[in-house]
Amino acid sequence: MSAPHSPSPRAFALPAVPSADVAAEGLRTLRDLIRWACTRLTEAGAQFGHGTDNAHDEATWLALWCLRLPLDKPEPFLDATILPAERASFTALIERRSVERLPAAYLTGEAWLRGLRFKADPRALIPRSLLVEALEDGLAAWLPDQPPDTVLDLCTGGGSIAIAAALRFEQARVDATDLSADALALAAQNQQLYQLETRLSLFQGDLYASLGGRRYDLILSNPPYVNARSMAELPAEFRHEPQGALDGGADGMNLVGRILRGAPAHLNEGGMLIVEIGHEADHFEAAFPELEFGYVPVSAGERLIVALSRDALLAWAAR
Ligand SMILES: C[S@@+](CC[C@H](N)C(=O)[O-])C[C@H]1O[C@@H](n2cnc3c(N)ncnc32)[C@H](O)[C@@H]1O
Repeated sequence: MSAPHSPSPRAFALPAVPSADVAAEGLRTLRDLIRWACTRLTEAGAQFGHGTDNAHDEATWLALWCLRLPLDKPEPFLDATILPAERASFTALIERRSVERLPAAYLTGEAWLRGLRFKADPRALIPRSLLVEALEDGLAAWLPDQPPDTVLDLCTGGGSIAIAAALRFEQARVDATDLSADALALAAQNQQLYQLETRLSLFQGDLYASLGGRRYDLILSNPPYVNARSMAELPAEFRHEPQGALDGGADGMNLVGRILRGAPAHLNEGGMLIVEIGHEADHFEAAFPELEFGYVPVSAGERLIVALSRDALLAWAAR
């Protein structure tokens, strides 16, 4: 959910790239399409961070998707001839990505996260939570030897974390909640995609409000945590996402604080709360100075996810 870095300002002006129609005439192969799209996206100032982090990967993904080719195997096709209709579809797609600055996942209707495919559209944030990587490995150090029987995904959006948790803990019952009915409608489609109707339940409400007295062994959450300054500087691509999925208030900690305070009443004894905080670690430490917690490292960084035991949360609440 972190905002991407800004492009470095150009030291000198380059001539404008020709329009898609003119440029497209010279495109003969998949390699040509990808090269042209890299230039077009860069020239348009496109920003990344929704599944890719650079123009080449994004151009390759969109080209393979558009040509209905395997997304992980461009090599055999790079020098294959492109048909005029294929060229027209691709250049139109890249024009929408460049001019409207729509994220690729909203153009294709799908997002990939750690090998999992999810339906994606503007009803919910595009799945990219670091918790899905943590579930594969890093989180194990924070959990008891016995896998959790009950898991809650708080602020589930399109359901990606809940689904990844259900796949990781095959015996667990998973609940997922969100305030947004739109996001939950998309989550229901993803639930169906993974045939998890019997093991995953969706609830609509403000944080824990719709859960009654339910308690869990593990609560996961990727809540809105973008601070006000970063919200004001969001690149155009991120403004296509529901802003209520990103906005965490002045220091990003509005929802996080409420999640911490509510967690003990919904955790079983020995239970753990794991919250993604992105690049807001300094704000987190400043907002909750007396809280005992640990960081769960992932490949993107050491201080992006926090882990809190029920006991630590109770001690903090009683201070
Ligand atoms: C950062 S998005 C995360 C979505 C999803 N977990 C993911 O990682 O892709 C935060 C989600 O929190 C939801 N949300 C915002 N305020 C909420 C609240 N008060 N109670 C429950 N959910 C809320 C938003 O609708 C959004 O879907």
